[in-house]
Amino acid sequence: MKSKKVTRRSFLTTVSAGAVAASSANILPKISPFMTHTNDSGKLAALGGTPVAKNLSWPAWPYVDEKMVDKLVETAKSRIWCRIDNPRNGTVATFEREYAKLMGCKGVVATGSGTQALNTTVEALGIGPGDEVITSPYTDMGTIASILVSRALPVMADIDPESFQIDPDDVERKITPRTKAIMPIHIMGQPCNMERIMAIAKKHDLHVIEDACQAHLSVYKGQMLGTIGDAGCFSFQSSKTIACGEGGAVISNDEKLLDKCYTVQNHGTNREGRSVTIGSKYRMNELEGALLLGQLDGVVERFETRNRNAKYLTSKLEGFKGLRPQKLYDGTESGSWYLYTMSYHKEHFNGAPREKFLKAMAAEGISLSPYIGNGLHREPWTEHILTLDVYKKMYAAERLKKFKKELYLPNCDKVCDELMVMLWAGGPLLAGQKEMDLFLEAVMKVYDNRDQLKNI
Ligand SMILES: Cc1ncc(COP(=O)(O)O)c(C=O)c1O
Repeated sequence: MKSKKVTRRSFLTTVSAGAVAASSANILPKISPFMTHTNDSGKLAALGGTPVAKNLSWPAWPYVDEKMVDKLVETAKSRIWCRIDNPRNGTVATFEREYAKLMGCKGVVATGSGTQALNTTVEALGIGPGDEVITSPYTDMGTIASILVSRALPVMADIDPESFQIDPDDVERKITPRTKAIMPIHIMGQPCNMERIMAIAKKHDLHVIEDACQAHLSVYKGQMLGTIGDAGCFSFQSSKTIACGEGGAVISNDEKLLDKCYTVQNHGTNREGRSVTIGSKYRMNELEGALLLGQLDGVVERFETRNRNAKYLTSKLEGFKGLRPQKLYDGTESGSWYLYTMSYHKEHFNGAPREKFLKAMAAEGISLSPYIGNGLHREPWTEHILTLDVYKKMYAAERLKKFKKELYLPNCDKVCDELMVMLWAGGPLLAGQKEMDLFLEAVMKVYDNRDQLKNI
């Protein structure tokens, strides 16, 4: 391959311009002249060429700094490890207040995980056996588990293959007289089409429980995700952009609902110490609270850095039909960028299946993942619940038959099987422009040498 010397500035400008030109002409750009890093850039690293990003090391995740460590040590030494030992000013209670300020909502109830936050909300809204909750199969099992542990029926709606978000039209099709709530998932930390979902919920008098487990600080039409429905649920599991190992939170502007959530996650015991309802023990502990509190200071800056880098990558990939960044709905103002995701279109890579592209990228030094291997409608829980007495008693045989039939979700299957490629972005999108450019160079090198993919 010929290598024309260009400066980094011209590389970046030209990649973008070339991509846009390609989109209008429907011919993909030849970008290889900008491969200034290698002297054999015409050979994919997977076939013995020199990797574009040989020693690339992304910023590590989860985030740790001295302040977090100090807070953790201070809490350990205090011997107050359980939130009820300092209910007003312990680390968990303080984090709840600080998170509420950050999210601009009336209150927060911390829990031991995102799954627990979701199940707490399901229980607090009185959803149980015989009820149905519509959600997406393109998610973590925690979403589905939060409905199943209350013995309600998780009803699957298909997704939009470009945004990977729940499809509001399919949600509406799946509503029955038993439907009590919609649980949209802001997948990858980007907003669902909340305008449509809220309109559907209003029309059919349904609750909306936002699964915002991936979507810390994301804003849609001026509102923080998690504050649009009845409640929003967050995860602070290690990979998330605010993390403490395992942790979660329910946020809401409905104080009565928040009180119920507190009681449910406190094994049914309210703030006054009376045991009034059914609930498991889902309390966050003080060490988790300390880790969360210790990192709040820099959270907004890290969020802004991720947004800046994501915007940069997306602008450079604009018009490139081989790899298309996640579609964002109108009104998306920012995202957590927990993951940076794209859809891979093999017809623009000489028909090479996604696996070959991923192998080629990994060899160039950029590890991408196909993310969720199976939509959750293809997992054995869908068969298992049909064998359980509680489901057989609470749902008519016809209903369960229909539930099974409705597990044909071709868009989700296509995203799982062919399209999705993603970068775990919590750490990587905190890197500098140099790393973003290496990412783009690797993509373009593989694209430019796509005829070699068949040999990998
Ligand atoms: C979309 C989504 N929902 C729910 C969960 C469950 O959260 P947790 O793992 O904290 O229980 C996760 C976690 O990965 C998630 O990504």
